[in-house]
Amino acid sequence: MFSQQSIIGNLLPRIPAVSRGRFATWLEKHNRDLSIFQTSLRRKLTTFNVAYAKAGWDATTNISIYPSTSVALSLVDAAAIKEVTASRARFPKPVEQYKLLSFFGDNIVASEGDDWKRYRKIAAPAFSDRNNKLTWDETVRIILDLFDNVWGSQESIIIDHALDITIPIALFVLSAADFGLRISWKDEGIPPNHQMSFKDALHEVSMNCFIKILFPNWAMGLTEHTRRVRLAFEELDSHMLEIISKRRNAEKKEERHDLLSSLLDASADDPSFTDRDLTGNIFMFLVAGHETTAHTLCFTFAMLALYPDQQEILYQHIKSILADGKLPTYEEMPLFTHSMAVFNETLRMFPPVNGIPKYSAEDTSMTVGNAAGDELVLPVPRGTHIVINTVGLHYNPRYWKDPEEFRPSRFLEPDWPRDAFVPFSAGPRACIGRKFFETEGIAVLTLMISRYKIEIKEEPQFASETFEQRKTRVLASKPGLTITPIRVPLVFKRR
Ligand code: HEM
Repeated sequence: MFSQQSIIGNLLPRIPAVSRGRFATWLEKHNRDLSIFQTSLRRKLTTFNVAYAKAGWDATTNISIYPSTSVALSLVDAAAIKEVTASRARFPKPVEQYKLLSFFGDNIVASEGDDWKRYRKIAAPAFSDRNNKLTWDETVRIILDLFDNVWGSQESIIIDHALDITIPIALFVLSAADFGLRISWKDEGIPPNHQMSFKDALHEVSMNCFIKILFPNWAMGLTEHTRRVRLAFEELDSHMLEIISKRRNAEKKEERHDLLSSLLDASADDPSFTDRDLTGNIFMFLVAGHETTAHTLCFTFAMLALYPDQQEILYQHIKSILADGKLPTYEEMPLFTHSMAVFNETLRMFPPVNGIPKYSAEDTSMTVGNAAGDELVLPVPRGTHIVINTVGLHYNPRYWKDPEEFRPSRFLEPDWPRDAFVPFSAGPRACIGRKFFETEGIAVLTLMISRYKIEIKEEPQFASETFEQRKTRVLASKPGLTITPIRVPLVFKRR
């Protein structure tokens, strides 16, 4: 009944014939393997039958009647996905679906056409090689600050949930490299004139966007939770305005070339680039860059802890490049091929963005295939919703052998299926921050694994669990803006 492209269809749980459910794309994967989910969630889904394996084609369609009669075509066929991502004019982005991310103003993610081109052009120089080096250097500084000033001489550090460190890492790197704002692990508290720290406000906002859409402002005052969410939105706005005014006042003294400078230059040169374009884009870069990165780092640590043999292979590779005690440099980044393979495998298995929406701007057609090698030409009428099902593609056995297995080495083979790997989307609207993430990720992983061994925290209440049960528990996730690990308890042991 309710289209998944509508807000209500996105929020409802799975109800047969009424809504597909919020977590459907992630939970279905390609073959309905639900093993890594909480039992309660799994039980609800066992009757689910809209899966590609069952359909016999690498595409399925849903027909819905609300908000209007519409067809959604969901794709896990690499060639069809490549065609969709490559043709921006034929398959644009349905920007109205992103309006929920425009609280603070229009922005690069929630725009199309000339507006998008302008935002992308403004932001592009900040993602050049020069700034990637800055990202690397800032990441190394932030991780050394964690080692030296927080973990100190402790032999083993227990972290109750890995997000407790990966969220600050992602935010500190983004703040420093994109906005020139250095936050140290020690001064994480609430600054004067604020009721919430920058980190908490941003986290609260990304986790609770949906609440802000559903409730009018007056209703946000009704419960303690909604009041906190409302406060987070106000606080984030005020933190962002502060970042802008600090830089505006400091700009004369210091020449910088980061994202904030590019955005401020655009607002100074072009009167149509308003202050709301500024906060809209700052917010968007913060959201797009911090949660995706934090969750990916968290899943990566979890997988390495669950698979110590893979961690050992990675450690030996890092050791073969880094002389004892030497810090890795940006120039050495291409040498850390195993670190990159570990990230790619984690992103294949846990792509933060599960479904990438597009629509057909004209009457057209598309060829889709199946495991038997058959091909089918589908008519795609104008207005058809298209979902690039990242998870389904990444677990599609047509491209990935034993897709449920964590095997980073598949990305070291020269002919790995590049078109079947789209965690950052592809084509002109692919993620602008991909290299930023890879740079930060490799610096974090290389430093972390070279000095610490990561293990799952042993807890008496889980002493009798099997490996599969432990894996299910540690990898359990819930929906957020991107898939969110629920609790990944880890121990970092000094090597
Ligand atoms: C693991 C890390 C990341 C993943 C998996 C990821 C994934 C994606 C995906 C799938 C898209 C396309 C979304 C769509 O079409 O609806 C996207 C777009 C985008 N990402 Fe990322 N991203 C990551 C990190 C980052 C970082 C670190 C930044 C910024 C510093 C960033 C900034 C953006 C922006 C601005 C866009 C919109 C680009 C445009 O529409 O032109 N992302 N990302």
